[in-house]
Amino acid sequence: IYGPNRLNSKGVNLNINSQYQPLMDEMATFMDKEYNAKPLLAFDVADDSSARHDVLCPFDRKVKVGSVQWTSKDQAAKAVDAAWAAFPRWENTPVAERAAIIRRLGDLMEDNLAELMALCSREGGKLLTDGVDEIREAVDFCRYYATRAEELFGNATTLPGPTGESNELMLSGKGVFAAISPWNFPIAIFCGQVVAAAVAGNPVLAKPAEQTSLAANRVIELLYEAGMPRDVVQLLPGDGPTVGSVLSGDPRITGVVFTGGTDTAQIINRALAAREGAALPTLIAETGGMNAMIVDSTALPEQVVADVVQSAFQSAGQRCSALRVLYLQEDVADRVIEILKGAMDELHVGDPRNLGTDVGPVIDEDARKGLMAHIEKLKGEGRLVAETKLDPAHTAEGTFVAPVAFEIDSIDALEREQFGPILHIVRYKASEIDKVIQSINDRRYGLTFGVHSRNESFAEEIAEKIRVGNVYVNRNIIGAVVGVQPFGGQGLSGTGPKAGGPNYLLRFATEKTLTINT
Ligand code: NAD
Ligand code: ALA
Repeated sequence: IYGPNRLNSKGVNLNINSQYQPLMDEMATFMDKEYNAKPLLAFDVADDSSARHDVLCPFDRKVKVGSVQWTSKDQAAKAVDAAWAAFPRWENTPVAERAAIIRRLGDLMEDNLAELMALCSREGGKLLTDGVDEIREAVDFCRYYATRAEELFGNATTLPGPTGESNELMLSGKGVFAAISPWNFPIAIFCGQVVAAAVAGNPVLAKPAEQTSLAANRVIELLYEAGMPRDVVQLLPGDGPTVGSVLSGDPRITGVVFTGGTDTAQIINRALAAREGAALPTLIAETGGMNAMIVDSTALPEQVVADVVQSAFQSAGQRCSALRVLYLQEDVADRVIEILKGAMDELHVGDPRNLGTDVGPVIDEDARKGLMAHIEKLKGEGRLVAETKLDPAHTAEGTFVAPVAFEIDSIDALEREQFGPILHIVRYKASEIDKVIQSINDRRYGLTFGVHSRNESFAEEIAEKIRVGNVYVNRNIIGAVVGVQPFGGQGLSGTGPKAGGPNYLLRFATEKTLTINT
């Protein structure tokens, strides 16, 4: 079941095979279940119907998946008290014990794969294949960070020194962390943040996205089942600015690990800096992108299109890594666009639970409206190149946006990241390549980037000059693998260190040097 999530050169999903049937049968058990979640805090939280918010299914807004009781400001403040009190005990819990809990969470997520996938699909609108990848990534985060924590925190490093003196460098937790996550990876990113902070010895206040709190709730229930004390990891579902302002305004919060929009990261950064009497904070922010791909005249058009369709339209373009701007060298542009149109004609948009679906819904009506406004504007300017047809029989009840491609003059024409299945194409002349790279770098986003070329030195030169976190040559630009392709951007796209990389846990740790005169 952990197969690759592949589309063929015409954009058709290749994963339609019988391996999925047992999993789908098991998922069916959870497809009608109504979930009711509330804050999971160190203390009991009374039921409060006035604080409940319904969760509607993105592919069928008539269906209620459940409801979530949002955290009040008062509850959030008390949760910080509990986390603050838990810090000394948790920091001194041997790393092997902390790691064992995190590994058990990984095992439990595998045991509950069908339910978690059903939630990803019903609450987050994810395709089944994307759901498998999502939970696989969450499990990988657990195992990778548990192992890395034991390596880093297990023993002090002995350092040289003069005779009669011993020197050691040791790592420990930093303090209380707020973990604030987005809806587009409701389990993988949510879980990655929480387990990294916790395994490093820090109590965590986890604030999931408003749209996907049910999946987060289920993961934290499993984390408690794995043995995590309730005061060490607490779940605070709710409104971003309301819960966020309590967390980022409290001087006892040592660090925030955030993934989401660049604007939100900047709000959090300002709030942390404005606190009176707080220790200097740590902000780990992974944010948006304006991701580009450059295709030169030596590239193979069929391979380019397969990779472009995956990069721009898989997960309905709702990946921070997704391709937004495709630069085509003029000699190959017409051929690539012709094949791309054919591939986009064949994409099937609809119910993500159907294995024949290539593109599911966008997350909610606000997202749909924002994307449609951009699409209408570019259509009005006569920029349309290709658009997949929506079949109302499959899309009328949900928040769907058809994959669409436009030609624009340059990346400068885009005011902001368009977080959906919208591809922008720019034609360039070979002589303009330096200007193209300059304009991409000048946007100061720097997340993912792709180059398609059979000229190795061209690809190497571009990869060197481009200022981004993840460069992909002759392949798609999504789906970084934990421990293999550490993921994260630079500039407006993030602070680093990279998630799923060897240095990630270091930002959650404090260093102490111990010198003893023997
Ligand atoms: P968002 O910034 O709107 O929300 C992210 C989280 O921040 C949510 O939990 C939200 O409730 C919270 N929040 C909102 N206002 C807040 C405030 N004032 N204080 C504290 N918290 C607040 O982002 P989103 O719409 O959930 O996610 C989409 C964005 O995330 C895109 O820009 C995408 O590129 C980015 N993203 C980046 C990465 C990465 O690794 N670089 C990964 C996934 C998504
Ligand atoms: N890590 C995710 C990807 O690479 C965002 O697509």
